[in-house]
Amino acid sequence: MQITEISFKSADGSFAKEGVDVDLRSLSDEEFNRIENEFNETGVLVFRSQSLTPQNLIELSKRFGEVEKHLRQEFSLEGFNEIHVLSNIKQGERTIGSAYAGDAWHADLCFKKAPSRMSILYSLEIPHDEIGKPLGDTLFASAADAYDRLSDSQKNRIADLRGIMQYNRRQEIKRQERAKDHPRPPLTEEQKAKTPDITQPVVRLHPLSKRKCIYVNETYTFGIEGMPEEDAKTLLDELQNEVIVPDRIYRHKWKVGDVIMWDNCLTQHKAIGDYKLPQRRKLLRTSISGTPVE
Ligand code: SIN
Repeated sequence: MQITEISFKSADGSFAKEGVDVDLRSLSDEEFNRIENEFNETGVLVFRSQSLTPQNLIELSKRFGEVEKHLRQEFSLEGFNEIHVLSNIKQGERTIGSAYAGDAWHADLCFKKAPSRMSILYSLEIPHDEIGKPLGDTLFASAADAYDRLSDSQKNRIADLRGIMQYNRRQEIKRQERAKDHPRPPLTEEQKAKTPDITQPVVRLHPLSKRKCIYVNETYTFGIEGMPEEDAKTLLDELQNEVIVPDRIYRHKWKVGDVIMWDNCLTQHKAIGDYKLPQRRKLLRTSISGTPVE
């Protein structure tokens, strides 16, 4: 039997990799293992020209682990409660998905004790400007490379610190900011109870490779345990800037049919909200469970 060797190239000269000629619907075990190994090392993989049904997306995701149901079930794809819709498209008063999600740097579900291992995002509709340039790019940065670049004194300073993660606070800020163009209901008490404030290590060990990664971000980290707020803010800004060095960022320019998978410890990401209706954006996202943070 002939085994096809999947190959990868650097995506846009960055740390991210792009799989060449891959059909994610029909991976053999060998091909899947090749992808998973590459993924565990690189943290961001891109696959172009895919043609996935929602069921294909779930099956692919399940090969990596348990697929989580999103907290905001009102934005699930109808009939598939493991698929979270990201979209600015309106149906009546509200959007069919979470609109302009992730528009500041973050790692998905870092506010949970057992955060998401990884996310997979599949594009169905991508907005364009009047000359056909795609809008709504997604940016990725390596939080592991960023840690490696720190000086010894920076590493020593942050070694034992813990960041305060506040999902509910971020949601409320965002809800108020977007109240006019994208009204959404506040979190219910039941939803809030599922995401209490927690602390996470500022430097997280990757569960598989044990690489050290900067695990605080501008979206969900509002402070550092035991540190005055002003000092914490200065340090958090400094660390965020270490992660997002401009020439180290991978900027994904979406086409319909693209799949991107990213590791939520090795990397951080941010979506650019430079479009608005009638420019429509619709993507489907799954999240694969991770292990509790060590
Ligand atoms: C996210 O998962 O944070 C949003 C990514 C995107 O919409 O490009």
